[in-house]
Amino acid sequence: MMGAMSEAFDAVDVIIAKRDRHELSDAHIRWIIDAYTRGVVADEQMSSLNMAILLNGMNRREIATWTDAMIKSGERMDFSSLRHPTADKHSTGGVGDKITLPLAPLVAVFDVAVPQLSGRGLGHTGGTLDKLESIPGWRAALSTEEMLRQLDEIGAVICAAGSGLAPADKKLYALRDVTGTVEAIPLIASSIMSKKIAEGTGALVLDVKVGSGAFMKTVDSARELAETMVDLGTDAGVNTVALLTNMQVPLGLTAGNALEVRESVEVLAGGGPEDVVELTVRLAEEMLEAAGRGGQDVRAALTDGRAMDAWRRMIAAQGGDPDAELPVAKETHEVVAGSDGVLTSLDAYAVGVAAWRLGAGRARKEDPVQAGAGIELHAKPGEQVRAGQPLMTLHTDTPERFERALEALEGGWSIGDDGTAPDLLPLIIDRIAR
Ligand code: URA
Repeated sequence: MMGAMSEAFDAVDVIIAKRDRHELSDAHIRWIIDAYTRGVVADEQMSSLNMAILLNGMNRREIATWTDAMIKSGERMDFSSLRHPTADKHSTGGVGDKITLPLAPLVAVFDVAVPQLSGRGLGHTGGTLDKLESIPGWRAALSTEEMLRQLDEIGAVICAAGSGLAPADKKLYALRDVTGTVEAIPLIASSIMSKKIAEGTGALVLDVKVGSGAFMKTVDSARELAETMVDLGTDAGVNTVALLTNMQVPLGLTAGNALEVRESVEVLAGGGPEDVVELTVRLAEEMLEAAGRGGQDVRAALTDGRAMDAWRRMIAAQGGDPDAELPVAKETHEVVAGSDGVLTSLDAYAVGVAAWRLGAGRARKEDPVQAGAGIELHAKPGEQVRAGQPLMTLHTDTPERFERALEALEGGWSIGDDGTAPDLLPLIIDRIAR
């Protein structure tokens, strides 16, 4: 291996230690993250170590050191010059999860600054930046100075994370994505928390999704991930809490970029689907509490126009026109109910994959997304439906995509006629705090 003679350790020794279920020393961990970032440890070695971690796990000390090493691979931001305390929210990703859009301006109404460094969608989950880019003129890339100015003046910013934040994670995440090692709890927790701690937020609320549309399919695994992240944040001095929330069904009635912006604007106008409103309000309450500004009537700011005003300022500050017509897909296709009964299931994963195949998401990082593509739902589980009634409308600019989207939806929903209520988790399942 190039340069191995001058290195403190040999990557193979670190891999073998984890393969044989030993704890990694702090020195091993700090060295391997640094050496991988410098290009001294090869991708095949790091992917082997990732797989050993996925299979054999890491303890609390190992995860804390791993996270700290990732933070130290890059720069840290500093919000101490701002007039207001900061609070951020991170969702582990889901289908129809547009909560960041109404949430950031809503929290800003209460003089808590929201630095929301967001990403793009990969796979079946959407990305916040892709959604906002469907607004004509809006731009995701801001310099640190622009971001700080907007935070101080408007109180909320949603923008792309700069490349200087946790560069080790950028490399590691891309590697995990193609080596079947995304789902390891220590790796997910350290990936998310290294970026959030490096970002420098004072308070952090984690929305850990549970169900078919999420990384974590069971409440137990989501709880373990949430506890790991809350411990990491707390130990790093960030006031961190987590909610476990339902991702068995899509959030709200839309999945797809412009469709989700439209629904978010409905919420900011005091309407919108109740599950989106409830989760937005609860997360806002948690963020305000964690930032030391709890006990306020958050819902009122959605109905009296204050959150909408903050949204309009936030979008305009980044070049977007909040009054512009949103893009609409060229073609639509309706899926109708085959019988009378109660909609008993509507699988988030199936809807997410179908929206992705319609063009809302990308298969490779460099692919473009279609702003208008996605799925509009006309019924949610528990609702009575009639034969022939539209259950959902598929939207795309490229109608040859309908067939594969419909395949993804096959078996993804069911109608019961024996009066059985759907067996679903509540929207907010649990709260984890230390
Ligand atoms: N989001 C991240 O940023 N990292 C992960 O590992 C998973 C989700």
